[in-house]
Amino acid sequence: MTERSQLNHYLAKTENDLPKRVYVFDTTLRDGEQTPGVSFTVEEKTEIARHLDALGVAVIEVGTPITSEGDRKAAAVISKMGLSAEICGLARVVRGDIDAAIECDVDRVHVFVSTSDIQIKHALSMTREQVLSAAVDSVQYVKDHGLICEFSPMDATRTEIGYLKKVCIAAQEAGADVINIPDTVGIMTPPAMKRLLEDMASVIKAPLSVHCHNDFGMAVANTLAAVEGGATQVEVAVNGLGERAGNAALEEVVMAMDLIYGLETGINTELIYETSQLVSNISGVAVQPNKAIVGENAFAHESGIHTRGITEVPLTFEPIDPALVGRRRRFVAGKVSGKRGIKTALEDMGLHPTETQLREVVMQVKELGDKGKMATDADLYAIARNVMALKHEDRVKLKQLLVVTGNTVTPTASVTLLVDGKEFIGSGVGNGPIDSTINAIRQVVDSFADIRLERFAMKAITGGTDAIADVTVRLKRDDRYVTSSGVSGDTVMASVEAILRGMNRLLDDG
Ligand code: KIV
Ligand code: ZN
Repeated sequence: MTERSQLNHYLAKTENDLPKRVYVFDTTLRDGEQTPGVSFTVEEKTEIARHLDALGVAVIEVGTPITSEGDRKAAAVISKMGLSAEICGLARVVRGDIDAAIECDVDRVHVFVSTSDIQIKHALSMTREQVLSAAVDSVQYVKDHGLICEFSPMDATRTEIGYLKKVCIAAQEAGADVINIPDTVGIMTPPAMKRLLEDMASVIKAPLSVHCHNDFGMAVANTLAAVEGGATQVEVAVNGLGERAGNAALEEVVMAMDLIYGLETGINTELIYETSQLVSNISGVAVQPNKAIVGENAFAHESGIHTRGITEVPLTFEPIDPALVGRRRRFVAGKVSGKRGIKTALEDMGLHPTETQLREVVMQVKELGDKGKMATDADLYAIARNVMALKHEDRVKLKQLLVVTGNTVTPTASVTLLVDGKEFIGSGVGNGPIDSTINAIRQVVDSFADIRLERFAMKAITGGTDAIADVTVRLKRDDRYVTSSGVSGDTVMASVEAILRGMNRLLDDG
């Protein structure tokens, strides 16, 4: 188990100045929904909110109730769910917006108005004086209704500092419970962010919050710097969703606060991965493989030096214990793999090769790598089985496949599979020939095993309309994952090969 202790000795001298507890304000359902192409239904928002609550966030910003009937319904439903988290609705400094949030029965209203001259002039067509008075009026209005009020001077980081302080002091005097400092267009650097928060903390007594965007890829670093400067609330979104390049990623900020800074976050970190997967599936925004904490490769090790160190003492090359965030370590077989990593991967599959057999497996994996191919789990299993001369028969085999597609029919597939030698027929429709084929296979396999398709990727190895397709899939059964691939000149057959190879791997495990 990774110690939840300082990983970075240089931080030690600032440690005593940090707050003990930082509150996590999640905006996946509000700023996250502003991600281009993302829109949540009421049911989806409800499900994500339930997960965020289990995760332990302090505040869930559920939307901007004035924007739509759906947002109002979601805010009202979530407010009645009896969650432990505080429920917050966003509102401009406009009575109608605030009323819409209040009518949803939220606990907190987050009112915001632009304070930078560029936005005051070109986005609002107002004057500084008008902005100040609208801010004060709105905070008072929320407080008159007995609700918690958070105030945000939008584009704070491009606002002239004297005016920024004046507006925030006025909001505080009007009763604001939290003052949030948004880096709306993500132009801060960590040292500047820390100085800004320290400066604001010298005039603001209410708790300070921070809301960073990722335009220059510094949202997480800037959020942490703000905490060093005095912020006790961080606004974040799962998987870093949010307007343009997104918000600071919840999982990265939380794990850094927890493991690097040693701060209390209130987050059940073991639920981070499943929450990330849920948000990715519902939002349709895939998590990049090399994304920290929740990316496919975040706990995958390939090189010999690394796998050797990790099998001795995980902390050698793994700063975070994967179990802490609900994940498992993976050893990947590839060109730079060493014997140790491949041996561990094979042992995980229940295979125990001799030293000579292991050497042969490693050589074949490296040969595959030199041809530009990564050995999937199914490849590694097949290579080892061959080398170890293990008798083996696939439990599921394809006997026949028929697919109908075209511009006047719904793509439909009918498949005959031999399962342990017995014939089963399945059919499926889908939005294309591959989708319908996969659904037909699923219909058969579902009756005896719960195997889910988690990821599907296809690339053309050669060019042209007769290109060779290389399909890689990731399948899941209970808590076991397997990757497998199929290569064919026919895209449907490459997909079938990849899926059946993966299913057979998972079924071999019982
Ligand atoms: O980025 C921003 O400034 C915002 C505010 C509404 C807080 O999202
Ligand atoms: Zn934002």
